[in-house]
Amino acid sequence: MEIIKVKDYEEMSEKAANIVIEHMKSLKRPVIGFATGSTPIGLYNCLVKKYQQKEVSFKHATTFNLDEYVGLPKENKNSYHYYMHENLFQHIDIQPENVHIPNGMAEDLEQECMTYDRLISKNKIDIQILGLGLNGHIGFNEPGTSFKSRTHIVKLDQSTRKANARFFQSIDEVPTKAITMGIETIMESKKILLLVSGKEKSDALARLLGNSDISEEFPASILRQHNDVTVIADEEALKKIN
Ligand code: F6R
Repeated sequence: MEIIKVKDYEEMSEKAANIVIEHMKSLKRPVIGFATGSTPIGLYNCLVKKYQQKEVSFKHATTFNLDEYVGLPKENKNSYHYYMHENLFQHIDIQPENVHIPNGMAEDLEQECMTYDRLISKNKIDIQILGLGLNGHIGFNEPGTSFKSRTHIVKLDQSTRKANARFFQSIDEVPTKAITMGIETIMESKKILLLVSGKEKSDALARLLGNSDISEEFPASILRQHNDVTVIADEEALKKIN
């Protein structure tokens, strides 16, 4: 695992954008895995800026998002479809048919998971962006999720619903279920870029980078077995690392 230490959120976002762009430039048809949440917003802002400055084009890129809530339509401001459109896709030259986000409104959710996973298997992700959950979740793979999991439906942890309630009117509005890429699906990405910022992530980061066991009780620990993971973390997040 390569660790890039940066000063703050801005520097993390800028570094991440540069890595994504460099990687994209080395590929004819890059396949990028995106995450949502607070962490990658700065990265998306940088990508938009660099697209506007003609440093990068997404015309030949294909994207897969990690996850989506079950039961929120695309137009709902808290859906990850809406988030991606607002923060990135509407500002760049991505072809809409190359954008993939799980459909949390599908009538047959099991089928949706299988179809989504198969599509990823056919279009291996070249670079996957990840954020880190307070409990070590990656995607919406909560503690206890099998390392062998493929794209599946999850019941969200109360702690995750609480953490995400800041985007909703109240915690009762936070969906109880989501579709997420599985851990094995994520691990098949050729390269992984994990972004970690802020002191509230310092315990989780210390656990990830420390010598604790690789355990399904702390999903992100599996990343230590991947051969190409870069962690970009800021000073606050690194606070508990000696
Ligand atoms: C988002 C996702 C989640 C977040 C994680 C951190 O698509 O899959 O695993 O990356 O919950 O969220 P933030 O960045 O809001 O702290």
